[in-house]
Amino acid sequence: MDENRIVEPSFTAMDSGTENNLRPRWLEQYIGQHGAVEKLKIFLEAAKRRNEPLDHVLLSGPPGLGKTTLSHIIANEMGVNIKVTSGPAIERAGDLASILSNLNENDVLFIDEIHRINKSIEEILYPAMEDYALDIIVGKGPSARSIRLDLQKFTLIGATTRTGQLTSPLRDRFGVLLNLELYDVESLKEIIKRSSTILGIEIEEDGAEEIAKRSRGTPRIANRILKRVRDYAEVKDQGVINKDVATKGLKLLGIDDYGLDNLDRKIILTMIENFSGRPVGVDAIAASVGEDKVTIEDVYEPYLMQIGFINRTPRGRVASKKAYDHFGIEYKNEENAL
Ligand SMILES: Nc1ncnc2c1ncn2[C@@H]1O[C@H](COP(=O)(O)OP(=O)(O)O)[C@@H](O)[C@H]1O
Ligand SMILES: [Mg+2]
Repeated sequence: MDENRIVEPSFTAMDSGTENNLRPRWLEQYIGQHGAVEKLKIFLEAAKRRNEPLDHVLLSGPPGLGKTTLSHIIANEMGVNIKVTSGPAIERAGDLASILSNLNENDVLFIDEIHRINKSIEEILYPAMEDYALDIIVGKGPSARSIRLDLQKFTLIGATTRTGQLTSPLRDRFGVLLNLELYDVESLKEIIKRSSTILGIEIEEDGAEEIAKRSRGTPRIANRILKRVRDYAEVKDQGVINKDVATKGLKLLGIDDYGLDNLDRKIILTMIENFSGRPVGVDAIAASVGEDKVTIEDVYEPYLMQIGFINRTPRGRVASKKAYDHFGIEYKNEENAL
């Protein structure tokens, strides 16, 4: 991960000052993701009516799309406390057991990056999720026995960039699966306007649209670009972000019409030049551009596919005609014309 890459979707130091202020706190303020939101509304309503905790929720999707935000919203809407931890942060089984036994009735336990939880620790979650119970081994050797401790009813919310990395016993214990998708330009525009209001930034429709188009479908990136373009507007212009100011500011940041940065360009150009437009495996792409395979699959590829620059075929990834056109390279590969 590149800490200074403006279009890096993961949380970095650049976001630390504002991310909490910009987070919607209620479902009503949560923009876009209508599929997930509609589903969630029904489950929330039903749980509240029965005065029971919400069923365990698995949130999946690329970084920066609102998984952490949504987990806090769920706790708010249920009127309960939220305890936050992450898969890699839980080092010992005892840590998780103590977190679980300290939860109050109907509380939310949020485990970020749940796919990275240690497998032996993960097993504690099975009875906890299924029966609200902890199975504890007491004693050693032949006299060891397992005792069961009851827990308060609670809701586990797990967040992951990939559902596929979860073991099936864990995945199967979630009752509500919500998959977040990259945002369309309209939703991003709304998010940018909302953030501008909170941050006291003056922005015009066409300025918001310009930033939205280049935010890779990701609210975190949209907010970050907004802050940087504001700096530019304050120094170079009257402080109002319109299309012209946004375009100039974005150019200065090295972000092109599609929100692509150097690594995206490198990925596409590698596919076109080094592999002559033939289908390429993700391992080969990763090796050529010197980036980790998982990062390419989880972070870069979804966006390059959304804008139609990369197509997946059974034989590998191919750069589309649109990608050739963008880079001004003549498209000869009729066989893969899609
Ligand atoms: N639906 C949304 N509406 C408005 N802002 C959003 C939305 N989703 C995310 N954001 C903004 O994007 C930022 C990153 O969201 P976050 O929940 O931390 O993403 P994730 O946990 O998926 O990486 C938040 O600070 C929030 O301001
Ligand atoms: Mg998060």
